[in-house]
Amino acid sequence: MPPTKPPAFSDLAYWDNRFSTTSTPFDWLVSANALDSLVVASIRSSSRERCKILHIGCGSSELSFRLGELAGTRENIWNTDYSRVVIEQGRAIEEKLDARPPKIGHEEVSGRMNWTVLDLLSDESITAFRAETQSESFDLIVDKSTSDAISCGPDLPLPGHGASIPSRSTLSIILHPLEVLALNLARLTRSGGRWICISYSSDRFGFLHPGTSSRTQSGHDGSTFCELEASRYWRLEHKEEIEVEAQPERAVDSGLPGGGVTAKTPVFRPKEVNYSYILVRTDVLLEP
Ligand SMILES: C[S@@+](CC[C@H](N)C(=O)[O-])C[C@H]1O[C@@H](n2cnc3c(N)ncnc32)[C@H](O)[C@@H]1O
Repeated sequence: MPPTKPPAFSDLAYWDNRFSTTSTPFDWLVSANALDSLVVASIRSSSRERCKILHIGCGSSELSFRLGELAGTRENIWNTDYSRVVIEQGRAIEEKLDARPPKIGHEEVSGRMNWTVLDLLSDESITAFRAETQSESFDLIVDKSTSDAISCGPDLPLPGHGASIPSRSTLSIILHPLEVLALNLARLTRSGGRWICISYSSDRFGFLHPGTSSRTQSGHDGSTFCELEASRYWRLEHKEEIEVEAQPERAVDSGLPGGGVTAKTPVFRPKEVNYSYILVRTDVLLEP
């Protein structure tokens, strides 16, 4: 039998189809409230009275609504995804929730969140979003497994940005999609702003170690372009294991006569973990 192809997690068509065929909320890796302490600490550490939050690749996660509760105000939250289908669903759910009579004794959070279609790898989409949200003004980026999906895609030729790079037309610059993501997010985040990422990978930001960029270029003079080093714009401040929430015990087929072993049989199961990362935006400017 030919091997089954893994789903194309970096393809818009895959996500549009998934969100069109089920509108039930779904959370990847960890539940929405698993990020509470990280988000609250970042909101508190923000120098601005109202922390501006960019939730990337929100999908149908409950986290969009949890952020509204944690921030205490909804207008400063942008839930974004490149799937228009899920963005429209999210907006409709918020409208429906607001139409319900308020719960007695429950403090209502004011305003409405922003629901915006944003392709994190598209120069055009980032430029339009910058114009809409007043440039590099975000204090906090929230990313639950969106980097994971993006990392499944192919390397990309660097488009448009990097206006400071000389004679761009003579160059062919290829970057890993996560490096493109890091450069694009650097354009949207103020200096000192944070990027909280939850990932299944123990080395999601390996390219931030100096000298490990996937960058290649073919310029006439072979010169290097340090403007494209994501490590100039992001510093890894913190990384921690998050243990995967307990799953119900399953019987395991031993392959021996008598079939499956019972849930009581000791079974070796490797510890499953995810990782939380906090990255901090440096004060190095990146040309729009
Ligand atoms: C693994 S899911 C995570 C969804 C949600 N954050 C969660 O925790 O349940 C990845 C999400 O990233 C979105 N995505 C993938 N590539 C993207 C891109 N280039 N720009 C914006 N969103 C993207 C997908 O549409 C999907 O909603």
